[in-house]
Amino acid sequence: MLSAMSDRLVSSTASPDDDRFDRLFRPRSFDEYIGQAKHVDNLRVFVEAARRRGEPLDHMLLCGPPGLGKTTLAHILAKEMGVTLHGSSGPAIEHKGALAGLLTKLEPGDVLFIDEIHRLNVTVEESLYPAIESFEIDLMTGEGPYATTIQLALKPFCLIGATTRTGLLTAPLLSRFGYVMRLDFYPTDDLIQIVERSARLLEIPIDREGATEVAIRSRGTPRIANRLLRRVRDFAEVLGSGKIDAEIAKTTAERLDIDDEGLDSMDRRLLSVIIEHYDGGPVGIDALAAALSEPRDTLEDVYEPFLLQQGLLGRTSRGRIATRKAFHHLGKPAPQPDDGGDQGDLFDE
Ligand code: ADE
Repeated sequence: MLSAMSDRLVSSTASPDDDRFDRLFRPRSFDEYIGQAKHVDNLRVFVEAARRRGEPLDHMLLCGPPGLGKTTLAHILAKEMGVTLHGSSGPAIEHKGALAGLLTKLEPGDVLFIDEIHRLNVTVEESLYPAIESFEIDLMTGEGPYATTIQLALKPFCLIGATTRTGLLTAPLLSRFGYVMRLDFYPTDDLIQIVERSARLLEIPIDREGATEVAIRSRGTPRIANRLLRRVRDFAEVLGSGKIDAEIAKTTAERLDIDDEGLDSMDRRLLSVIIEHYDGGPVGIDALAAALSEPRDTLEDVYEPFLLQQGLLGRTSRGRIATRKAFHHLGKPAPQPDDGGDQGDLFDE
């Protein structure tokens, strides 16, 4: 069954269409990469240092909401190191044998990229520890009374894990990464450049105002910007002259229910439920997920980070609250300070 998320611009996973275009759009080197300058500068240093020493890169964890470029950066790191990236994901590595199969294929210095690394099962995660710590893996051989464990030496490699939230990782796994990098939402100026670059690759004419309209509605997320750009191209080709300007970008956004802060109907529903059903909150995440018929993980990974960053949503010790800015954005009268609402203390994860 298709999930309600699959046809949405905001959806967390890459659609087959995204995969095809990701390959076209994906920057292949640090020089082509736009944004995240502080992180990219650090990564350049780590690559240079590892290359000079003739060693693999240290294990790294990339975290942040979907679509910000975790996979892209892993590919760039492998390319800049001149090694092969072997990609997998937490849920795909179902047992120790599958992990051993992946690890024994690695050549010296190769990158093993594990997406959604927080979803590894306990046994697989535990057998990963000696692999990343001392490049060896325990293998069971024989059966019954003849069963023994042998240690197999692996070639030195670099593990790059990706996760939507570091909070989901176990402490022992988290502590084994040499560098943890949190990707931030992209500022509009960076997204404008990304949109213009993608338009060049697609050979569609776009002016600065058109690129800006796409950028500001993309929730700080390159994957969403690239998806929206493809939809704007459809409207520009069918309803307009083929060229993307501010007007056709705005028309597209309106037709797709994306407002000028980049919120879509689900974001607005989320805030409306808090405001209308729970007097602005606080409301627990599970109650919210039930009211919206969306999985809790989707709310936490996909929707909340941007609403929090925009100051539209607050997390308190007693649950989620809609901020004054959210009331204002939805055109609802904000509660007065003396309304007696005890919203709990704002807190960070
Ligand atoms: N396409 C998607 N993300 C990008 C980025 N950060 N830089 C350049 N092109 C991109």
